[in-house]
Amino acid sequence: METDHVAVERRLLDDALRPGAVALDAGCGRTTRLRFFRDRIVRLVGVDADAAAASENPSVDEYVHADLDVGLPFEDGTFDLVYANFVVEHLSRPEHAIAEWRRVLRPGGRVVLLTSNRANPAMAVGGRIPSRARLVIKRRGAGAADRDVYPTHYRANTPSSLAEATAAGGLEPVVVEYVATLHRYGARVPLAATGLRWFELGLPARRRSTIVASYRAVGGV
Ligand SMILES: C[S@@+](CC[C@H](N)C(=O)[O-])C[C@H]1O[C@@H](n2cnc3c(N)ncnc32)[C@H](O)[C@@H]1O
Repeated sequence: METDHVAVERRLLDDALRPGAVALDAGCGRTTRLRFFRDRIVRLVGVDADAAAASENPSVDEYVHADLDVGLPFEDGTFDLVYANFVVEHLSRPEHAIAEWRRVLRPGGRVVLLTSNRANPAMAVGGRIPSRARLVIKRRGAGAADRDVYPTHYRANTPSSLAEATAAGGLEPVVVEYVATLHRYGARVPLAATGLRWFELGLPARRRSTIVASYRAVGGV
């Protein structure tokens, strides 16, 4: 069972990125793992609605303030890669945002995204508990800082709703993987991490907690 979303992401990015790539980190926040691919990325643009967070991001060449639910201030066909790490769950109009990602992709470009899977029973429960309680779990369990916990909508956060939103946005899947990452919520509580690993071990693949996927434009190469 795959339990390391970063290892899966690395494989998908390795396949998606060619030397000389121009990349967009959609919802870049304070940090981006695209920094590990700078040997292939000649220009890295970060977009985020949180200017305070994104302006601290040391890895992007340029920060552009934009609301992904509204649109992207770029010409058609600007990027070889659009990357979104734990952003889809925060979008109120994911189909529209994904159609924008598709619009700014060059022919042969890829979208690589990671997002939460609410088909996972624990994620489904987690999405229904009050945000203050979620904050405490993320802070005490995963060690997240309060400022990095954003409101969630989960509009495209099951295997089927994400497939619908990406297809509606003009993307077709290259690879979709389901990764067991619940143990991250127990990063500071080792016994909880072990329990969460065992819990996910018993679930069918499509119910694992994190979706890691790569897409290309419909009809593209
Ligand atoms: C969980 S953080 C992930 C940040 C970063 N991708 C990372 O890997 O650390 C979600 C990010 O998405 C951004 N975001 C959420 N909704 C957005 C929207 N509608 N438009 C632009 N950015 C948005 C937040 O401001 C935040 O930086």
